[in-house]
Parts: sequence; C-alpha cells; structure tokens
Amino acid sequence: MNRATSINRREFARTTLLAGAALASGPSRGSADDAPAVKRVRTGLIGCGSVSNQYLPQLTRSPFVEVVSLCDIRYDRAQKQGERFNVTHTYPNIDAMLAGESFDFLVDTTDMQQHEGINRRALEAGKHVWSEKPIANSLAAGQELLALALKKKLRLWGAPITVQSPQFEFMAKQLALGKLGRVAAAHADYGHEGPNWSAFFYEKGGGSMPDLAVYNLTSLTGLLGPVKSVTAMVSIVTPERTVSDKGRIKVTEEDNAMVLLDHGQGVISHVQSGFNYFNPNGHDGSKETRHTISIVGSTAFSEWLVTIGSLWPWTSQPKTNRNWSGTSLTPKVTSGSRAPRWLRRRSRPAANTARHARTRAPRFGNHHRGA
Ligand SMILES: NC(=O)c1ccc[n+]([C@@H]2O[C@H](COP(=O)([O-])OP(=O)(O)OC[C@H]3O[C@@H](n4cnc5c(N)ncnc54)[C@H](O)[C@@H]3O)[C@@H](O)[C@H]2O)c1
Repeated sequence: MNRATSINRREFARTTLLAGAALASGPSRGSADDAPAVKRVRTGLIGCGSVSNQYLPQLTRSPFVEVVSLCDIRYDRAQKQGERFNVTHTYPNIDAMLAGESFDFLVDTTDMQQHEGINRRALEAGKHVWSEKPIANSLAAGQELLALALKKKLRLWGAPITVQSPQFEFMAKQLALGKLGRVAAAHADYGHEGPNWSAFFYEKGGGSMPDLAVYNLTSLTGLLGPVKSVTAMVSIVTPERTVSDKGRIKVTEEDNAMVLLDHGQGVISHVQSGFNYFNPNGHDGSKETRHTISIVGSTAFSEWLVTIGSLWPWTSQPKTNRNWSGTSLTPKVTSGSRAPRWLRRRSRPAANTARHARTRAPRFGNHHRGA
C-alpha cells in the first residue's frame, strides 16, 4: 500500500461526515491577513443510542464542528452522552431541542421510523440535516423533504454514503476504463444475526432492506446506473425475537430479502440482505475477509470486499483476500494499481466496451443535496 495516500477508516469517516458539516457552515470568513478562518458548525445530535457512539467521537473531535446539544426521548441517554462528550445542553424531545440552544446542523441518529418526521421538523426550523438511513419511509416523503430543503436553501444528506468511499471510486474507475468489458451482472450481500438492542429494526418501517441492503443498493445503482424496475422476494425467518428495549417481540417486517434490479441496457444486479446470516465478523463486518460485491462483464469479473457501516464502512479492498490489509485503505486508487494481478493481466478494454463503460460512468456523490 502506498503510505503517502493511505487513510484509515476512522480518518475517512471523519473527513466524509465532516465535509458535510463544513458545507453546512457555508463559506468561511477570512481573517485580517486573509488566512482562512475555521468556522465551527453549531451542531445538534438527536438519538443517543448505539450509533451515536460512532458519531459523537468524530464530531466532538472535529475542528469544524461544535456539538452544542443532544436529544433523546430516553433522556438519560442524552444526559449520559452529554457528560461523556462534554455537551452542556440536553433535551428530551425535538420540540425542546429546537426551542433551546441554537444550532445550524442536525444529525439524526434516531430509529428508522422517526427520521421522516424529525427531518421535516428540523428543515422547517431552518436546520441543515444529516440523517441516518432512511431519510424518510417512502419515496414520496423523501422527495418532499428534498423539495423542502431546496426551497429553504438548506442541505439534506441521507446515509449511506458508500458512493463517496475510495473503494467506490476504485470500482467506478475499473468500470469506466472498461476493465470488465461489457458489464452484465452484479451481486452484493450484507447480513448478520440482527441487532438485539432495539425493536424498531423488526417493526413496521424496519427490516433488513432499509437497514442493510440499502448500502449495496446505493453502491450498485451508483456503479451501474439508476434502476428501471425492481423485483423482490422477502420473508420472515425468525418470527419472534428478544431485544433489550422491549423484551420478546413479534417480527412483522422482513428479515430476509432478495432484490433483483434492472439497470437497463441489459444490466441486471442482485442484492441480498438478512438478519439471519451467521456472521462471525461483527455486525459492521469490520473483520470480514470474503468479498461482498462482485461484478461480471464480458471480458473479466471482479470481486470486492466492502464491509459496511454508515459512518465507518470502508474497511474495504478490492479482492483478493490475500492482498487485504485490515483496516487500512487507499483513498486515491488509480486504475489497476489496486486491482488483483489476475484482473490486470486478463482485462483488455475493447474500444466499444470502454465506450459502454463510460456511458455508465458512475455518478459520484448521489447523496441528497438541498442546495
Ligand atoms: N447501531 C449501528 O451500528 C448503526 C450503524 C449504522 C446505521 N445505524 C442507523 O442509525 C439509526 C439508529 O440506530 P441505533 O442502532 O443507534 O438505534 P438505537 O435504538 O440504539 O438508538 C436510537 C435512539 O434514538 C432515540 N429516539 C427514538 N425516537 C426518538 C425521537 N423521536 N426523538 C429523540 N430520540 C429518539 C432512542 O431512544 C434511541 O436512544 C438507525 O437508522 C440505524 O439504521 C445504526
């Protein structure tokens, strides 16, 4: 690995999320001698549960962010994180938070079913919003939120942001260079035994698709183009579960999903997700060693190990496993330099396939922008 360009995943997570904060802050004002002044974005975080333990260390260490308030309907959680991360203002609900200490940027890490309403409230109150996935519980509602953000000249981001990862860049370049010839098919999967701390993952609006498949849906539509049609089969494998917040619960949303995507021009892909997958590698897949995305073309196929988590997803390397080097990764992978030797040897981009690949050149940064 090229040390000069290497970046570990913590660093990448920091720069990616915090780039959002920097954008939300608007242009920074220069000082008298015209040196750029750092403007810290006044930030509030709502939802002080599991994933806040990944967000808050990054946000509170950033020179671009000032976390001024925390909120959770389980108020003790907001207080606990307030003490741990030295945030003075804590609130038990969104109304109190919006009426309290002023801030410009809301980070929403609440339950999946809560995002839509909270994001709307925050946008209406003039806040930029970064939301965990999904930003809303239906396409129509998501589009309404985006329209609202645009109207109010605010920014709205929705996790996952896999398309901004160096691994995505690498994959996209391979395709754009025609390394695989004419792309035909792709497969991606992500699963584990399911979260055991909160019921919302298994209740209406939850399920393995919005929680897990969404990462690969984002990556594959980014790589292969928008989808013309979708077919899926879903099932419930484990009808009852025990979770920390509610005890024994009935599972009413799918915990096993197979999604077929038609990207047009003959390209078909398949995304698989589930909460019943034996996975000894942790739910964020940080110790994963097998590939999770494979793409097949007319002259070669390629496999990538992409382990996933919304804020720290990119412990990924292009296959092969023997080249995989733990949590290190390369931010600016130039084509071929990280490709497996067999791929470099066998791939011969033909003129027509290269053109095809270019027409499929991925759209970087397909996150939702309010401005
Ligand atoms: N836990 C992870 O590792 C992880 C990883 C990636 C993404 N996510 C996503 O992050 C989000 C949160 O997941 P989590 O695992 O942290 O869940 P969690 O249950 O641990 O935390 C959610 C918190 O939000 C609070 N909350 C719920 N509704 C609220 C409301 N209306 N107002 C204020 N607070 C409210 C809950 O009390 C809880 O403390 C989900 O969208 C999940 O898909 C989680």
